[in-house]
Amino acid sequence: MEAMSKVRNERLAEVVPDVLAALHEVLRRHRVTEEEWFAALDFLSEVGRTENEFILLSDVTRTSVLIDELSHGGDESGATASDVEGPLYRDDPPWREKPAKIYEDYEGMGDGDVLMVRGAVTSTDGGPLPDAVVDVWQTGPDGGYDVWDPRQPAYNFRGRMRVEADGSYEFQTMLPKPYTVPTGGPVGRYLEAVGQHPWRPAHIHFKVTAPGHQTLVTQVFFPDDPYLENDTIGAVKPALVRPVERRDGELACVFDIALRPLG
Ligand code: BEZ
Ligand code: FE
Repeated sequence: MEAMSKVRNERLAEVVPDVLAALHEVLRRHRVTEEEWFAALDFLSEVGRTENEFILLSDVTRTSVLIDELSHGGDESGATASDVEGPLYRDDPPWREKPAKIYEDYEGMGDGDVLMVRGAVTSTDGGPLPDAVVDVWQTGPDGGYDVWDPRQPAYNFRGRMRVEADGSYEFQTMLPKPYTVPTGGPVGRYLEAVGQHPWRPAHIHFKVTAPGHQTLVTQVFFPDDPYLENDTIGAVKPALVRPVERRDGELACVFDIALRPLG
């Protein structure tokens, strides 16, 4: 325990002086006034008082994308690319048994498209990972995430699945649509003040675990989305865009996932 806190303190001693030097340099260069500085402190205090807004601030300032890049960039193991988790993950999502469907219909859901998502989870060492768990979350076709939309049952468009013995998985969902990140709090006011739009392209979030392998947090995007090139959190990676095809009268998307062994 003592060793751990020593490691943490050494790291702080290394990083904090550089953070302060960079901040002081900006304050000096722009001759920031007392009034402006107190407004900034008030803003940060409000961000801290509002649920999930610090993660949201990290996301919209593209800081989360940078941290993802620093943590996973340059991985040449052949593992599937990681991506930002965002603030909308909910712990303990329901298990969805085969045939897995991750939503219930709800009043006002509109006439979106049913989408089948399928793929296989393998190790970059080769071979399927039969003990993998695929955990997904996304918005509905209208109204966004369950937590924002009182019409939707709790945990709608969320769920975990165990893969088959050959590593394969499949679930039924609906094609998500682009949506805006929450704009009702201090981060929404920040976006307006700096002239940044709040839209994200449609996507499905994945968190994939398997014994002996690094957990993968990622997102899948779809071609021809108007926000693919200008996601407000800058999280689109070309390697994570997957076509949606119409087969046998249904929309289908294939997303195969490769995990990297630990160590
Ligand atoms: C999301 O994709 O769920 C998300 C990411 C960043 C901010 C808000 C939402
Ligand atoms: Fe999302």
